[in-house]
Amino acid sequence: MRLILFGPPGAGKGTQAKLLGQRYGIPQVSTGDILREAIKKGTPLGLEAKGYMDRGALVPDRVVIGIIEERLQDRDCAKGFILDGFPRTIAQAEALSLALKRLRRDLDCVININIDHEELWKRLTGRRVCCKCGEEFNIYYKKPSQDNICDKCGSGLIQRDDDQEATIENRLRVYKEQTEPLLGYYQKENKLKTAAGQGDIPSVSQKIYQILEENGL
Ligand code: AP5
Ligand code: MG
Repeated sequence: MRLILFGPPGAGKGTQAKLLGQRYGIPQVSTGDILREAIKKGTPLGLEAKGYMDRGALVPDRVVIGIIEERLQDRDCAKGFILDGFPRTIAQAEALSLALKRLRRDLDCVININIDHEELWKRLTGRRVCCKCGEEFNIYYKKPSQDNICDKCGSGLIQRDDDQEATIENRLRVYKEQTEPLLGYYQKENKLKTAAGQGDIPSVSQKIYQILEENGL
């Protein structure tokens, strides 16, 4: 199965991609996670990406396209993959299509997680992440038992650097301007399906599983 999970920041792409990956035994390929990991390790990629990410701008196409072209050739992607946060521009979508052609593979489906502005604002401003183990919490939806302490490993919780309000505003604007036009692109390719992103995490998963089943995936 080769899928794209699409949607604005906070729609739940990462959350659902992880669950889908576990269910179908295929990797979640998240450009955001790959870039954050590079920043943590202080690699040249991380150093280049950090400035863009901190202000909620897109990392240049050539950088993320290079990451994805390499990643899709890894063995674990042979059975399929779930793209989370890529593509985000028309140029990225075109590069993906070429890369898949070279690998003689085809994209099965693009699932757009649809969600209203108020809800995604709460999800993003409420998110807290463990600085050590990466476990995610949310002060509105999944409160830690003790304020700012990770239930899993006892370390401190922090906000993602780009979850500050001004940066969220910028991420949402960039989504509207540069990423949302991809809906038309995949609609034309007849690949686009939409899942309502409201409701708790398991109920959104159910809607996505249903779409996949209806499409014989
Ligand atoms: P990236 O990491 O992709 O972030 P994003 O898409 O902007 O935002 P999120 O990851 O927050 O959204 P999500 O849809 O994954 O939601 P999540 O499941 O986490 O990108 C970060 C940056 O990297 C970009 O700004 C850019 O700079 C750069 N970048 C990455 N890819 C790039 C590319 N292709 N090109 C150029 N630059 C790129 O959920 C959010 C929160 O809500 C969590 O707390 C979660 O627990 C909670 N939640 C999820 N679902 C539910 C639910 N159903 N009910 C209640 N809470 C929920
Ligand atoms: Mg994400």
